[in-house]
Amino acid sequence: MLVVAGSLNVDLVGRAPRIPAAGETVLGAALQRHHGGKGGNQAVAAVRLGAAVRFFGAVGRDAAGEELCAALVAEGIDAAGVVRVEQASGAALITVSNDGENAITVLPGANLAVAPPAAGALQGARALLLQQEITPAVNLAWARAARDARVPVLLNAAPADAAAAAAVLPWVDLLLVNQRELQQLGGREAALGPPVVVTTLGAAGCRCWQHGRAIALPGHAVDVVDTTGAGDTFAGALAAALVAGKGLAAAVREANLAAALSCRRAGARGGMPRRAELQQALAADGMED
Ligand code: RIB
Repeated sequence: MLVVAGSLNVDLVGRAPRIPAAGETVLGAALQRHHGGKGGNQAVAAVRLGAAVRFFGAVGRDAAGEELCAALVAEGIDAAGVVRVEQASGAALITVSNDGENAITVLPGANLAVAPPAAGALQGARALLLQQEITPAVNLAWARAARDARVPVLLNAAPADAAAAAAVLPWVDLLLVNQRELQQLGGREAALGPPVVVTTLGAAGCRCWQHGRAIALPGHAVDVVDTTGAGDTFAGALAAALVAGKGLAAAVREANLAAALSCRRAGARGGMPRRAELQQALAADGMED
């Protein structure tokens, strides 16, 4: 069982020739609407790859909240831990450029009402997966409860918030960051504290640092439609493989490939692979499941 505590957003996406610069207006294409939020996305990535997932979050008492919960349940996620609150459900304004890059503004709304763990929340958990779209104090409470329960903590320190990450890092067993997030945390894996630090490098793959040794994995060439959610796919796939009992090297290899596959379709969750699709791609790449 993987426990995920985190955010749920409705993603309002506009495709444009390029990401506008500050003060610039660009003409884009039709508005798209997807289910998102780093927490929900990572839970979906994990469940699609076969993990049993229990999700804790918060949505508004609005249509978007109903929809976001229903989407989790439809994926097979235990969403009984999602509470309804008076704020509006979370939303994200996303521009995706024609080459698949994105820029995101998150409007957290109800996500700021995600609560610390209640008794039993971590029962049966083999890992806890956190991000940084809920309040830092609540993230810390989840991480401390997991450490007390001897449940490994995986933190995807996204979006970047160095102060929030620094507070929780002493309770983190595996840190997942992109290059920008790593730089904001000081740039040196060895100085961060967690015994494992995985850094995603976009199209260039990823680097896995453990006990002072780093292994680099190259990226996989795919036809990129939308990179939104690639980091979430990596996080969910990594967690799913680890709770399935796979070793770190195999888990990182799978996550690296799953993240690449996720870029082939629009929307944060649109391209997240299912188990069979990932297995096929692993076999085509000469890798065992
Ligand atoms: O990582 C992508 C996600 O970031 C989007 O789904 C958006 O909601 C923001 O949380």
